[in-house]
Amino acid sequence: MPFRSFPFRIFKRGRIPVLFVLVATALIFMTLSTGASFDRQTADQGQQIFQQKCASCHTVGGGKLVGPDLQGVTALRDRQWLKEFILDPNSKFDSGDPLATQLLADYNSIRMPNMGLTSADADAILVFLESSISAPEPTPTVPSGVGDAAAGQRYFMGQTPLANGGTACNACHSISGSGLLDGGTLGPDLTQVLARYGEPGLIAAISTINFPTMIGIFATKPLSPQEVADLVAYFSETNAQPAPVKTKTGLYLGIAGGIVVILFAVLFLFWPRQRQSISEKLRAGKL
Ligand code: HEC
Ligand code: HEC
Repeated sequence: MPFRSFPFRIFKRGRIPVLFVLVATALIFMTLSTGASFDRQTADQGQQIFQQKCASCHTVGGGKLVGPDLQGVTALRDRQWLKEFILDPNSKFDSGDPLATQLLADYNSIRMPNMGLTSADADAILVFLESSISAPEPTPTVPSGVGDAAAGQRYFMGQTPLANGGTACNACHSISGSGLLDGGTLGPDLTQVLARYGEPGLIAAISTINFPTMIGIFATKPLSPQEVADLVAYFSETNAQPAPVKTKTGLYLGIAGGIVVILFAVLFLFWPRQRQSISEKLRAGKL
């Protein structure tokens, strides 16, 4: 009988389940070794970018930091919206996008910066956030309450140089009460930055600096844990001061206005006398 010969014996009734299991196992291994491993690779890439550029403000499953905990965010929001937001949060805020506006209100008006990601970076981060891989929780490098505010002020003002060579904060930032024209205007005033970021958030944000304008300097010249602690202690002191009311522009305008008034006063005092003396000279026929 042909059915008894080898290739067909395999299909004998009792063997079909065994065959099924073998084929299924093979299929599972094939999927794992092609599609799934590609995703895993993308997710790993996404995790790396996240660790570099996002972990100073976000955790995945570790709770709120400067911004929201991003665990489960991909299930909560539309993927296209998330991608657009991650690539360019500022245009979402500026266009009055309702969700972005709500987030901004919930997070003390801290604007997530544009992180300069490529479209591929953003996709990889989203694949990472969709995967169940959790980002290692940031270990707070500085225990709170160990800083020296006076030392922090000296770092801020550039009186003590930063150990790794970073630029003093007041080149770009002001703090109210730190002197009339003290402090740069490139970055925001930091008087009440602690209230907005919260202590853990601020510690994380300046331990691994990710503000676009600051990365250039601080990526290779990070603050030391002690410097972070001292600066945070200083910010908790300045936090008690009222936020600055006058902008620097107002101050400069005021000074310029004052100079103009003084010039007019000088003219007012000397102009009439000179005119009079000329007319006197004319009348006297001396000219
Ligand atoms: C300097 C801090 C900071 C950095 C760095 C940062 N974020 Fe944010 N992020 C925020 C804040 C704060 C919010 C809440 C909205 C707001 O106020 O800007 C936010 C909101 C978000 C949201 C929206 C969450 C929601 O509930 O819809 C996503 C997604 C997000 N960030 C992803 C990222 C990714 C990805 C990176 C890295 C490429 C990153 N963020 C880097 C501070 C930051
Ligand atoms: C080269 C200029 C520059 C220097 C130096 C600098 N910053 Fe900044 N910083 C900025 C700018 C600009 C921003 C606004 C975000 C951006 O565009 O990067 C900023 C943002 C910040 C923020 C977030 C403020 C907010 O309101 O959201 C903190 C906190 C901060 N800087 C702390 C510091 C500290 C601490 C130092 C000193 C160790 C420092 N910066 C030195 C330019 C600078």
